[in-house]
Amino acid sequence: MRIVQVPLGHRSYAIKVGGGLLPRLGAECARLKLGRRCAVITDANAGRHFAKTALKSLAASGFEPVLITVPAGEKSKRVTMVEKCHDQLAAHRLERGSFLVALGGGVVGDLAGFVAATYLRGIPFVQVPTTLLAQVDSSVGGKTGVNLKAGKNLVGAFYQPRLVLCDLDVFRTLPKREYVSGLAEVIKYGVIYDAVLFAQLERNLPKLLQRDPATLRDVVARCCEIKADVVGQDETEGGLRAILNFGHTIGHAIENSSGYGKFLHGEAIAIGQVAAAKLSHELLGLPSADVVRIEKLFVRAGLPVKLKLNDARRKKLFAAMKLDKKVSGGEVKFVLAEKIGRVAWGRRVPEESIRQVLAG
Ligand SMILES: NC(=O)c1ccc[n+]([C@@H]2O[C@H](COP(=O)([O-])OP(=O)(O)OC[C@H]3O[C@@H](n4cnc5c(N)ncnc54)[C@H](O)[C@@H]3O)[C@@H](O)[C@H]2O)c1
Ligand SMILES: [Zn+2]
Repeated sequence: MRIVQVPLGHRSYAIKVGGGLLPRLGAECARLKLGRRCAVITDANAGRHFAKTALKSLAASGFEPVLITVPAGEKSKRVTMVEKCHDQLAAHRLERGSFLVALGGGVVGDLAGFVAATYLRGIPFVQVPTTLLAQVDSSVGGKTGVNLKAGKNLVGAFYQPRLVLCDLDVFRTLPKREYVSGLAEVIKYGVIYDAVLFAQLERNLPKLLQRDPATLRDVVARCCEIKADVVGQDETEGGLRAILNFGHTIGHAIENSSGYGKFLHGEAIAIGQVAAAKLSHELLGLPSADVVRIEKLFVRAGLPVKLKLNDARRKKLFAAMKLDKKVSGGEVKFVLAEKIGRVAWGRRVPEESIRQVLAG
């Protein structure tokens, strides 16, 4: 097992990465000195595979868990679902000392984290992320929240978990498309922060695609370490944390303008990162050899790197980009790479350059 510490003063916590961790959930929670009553929030898919093990483990350690299952999918990240969860916590008489377990992908983590942040003005919560994206990204760093009709993640709180358990065995049931989509965030960490990781990914991609446990343990732990390092320096996104958005300006616009469900998040940011790499070459001197390496790694992973755009779709995409909440004062700002492993944020990019890289 690998342990990564997230350094946030008295709110610091550990991320544990390894096989066989879910059956140890109860024992791990017992070490945190929490109350007996707790709730496990999960969705239909993660619940089907893992709820029984989680509940059994908690009960064996003397906890009294109640199970709350929400429908799978982004539509569960909404305010009405937060209220439904609150009502169930109250019905089960959870108190100040009680705690929540988020058992699922990023949807469950964001929802359950926000429920924990707001019930009784905050009760402790533990993350058990079950998708690759959730293990390397959404479960780390304390962003929680739900969507509004007006846009994604518009209601939320910064609220840190007390523990994150990344059990690598959960990937056995994860659909291939979801798994590969998570790899887009993994590759991102190499590009923005760690040239050694990027080279390792180039070498070990076949093993990673086979979900080899030892490779996964090293890679997931390193990604969590990088995110923890960034969040430790800039918890609330005053500056540095923005580098995590590499590829996301265009990626979000692709997700938002192409209709719900067409692209998974990882697929959209794969296209976004390749476009950002090309913009980086033009505007920041990223060597063309690095652009080629980046594009090639996404292709080998089985992720899309290009987008077919007619005039109407291009218009929609640019409109979506300008609506993004990371745009301030009407100007689109980008994270650009100087070389693999090093990026700069807050870079203005002319619309014409974006148009060109998306066209070619
Ligand atoms: N808080 C953050 O910092 C942060 C960062 C990135 C993304 N997010 C959020 O994360 C969400 C996306 O997360 P996601 O990609 O994990 O999606 P998700 O939670 O919807 O999970 C994807 C699908 O896989 C299923 N699933 C989960 N684990 C499984 C398993 N082990 N086996 C089989 N099926 C399983 C789910 O039921 C779902 O159908 C978005 O809402 C996004 O906004 C948050
Ligand atoms: Zn992302």
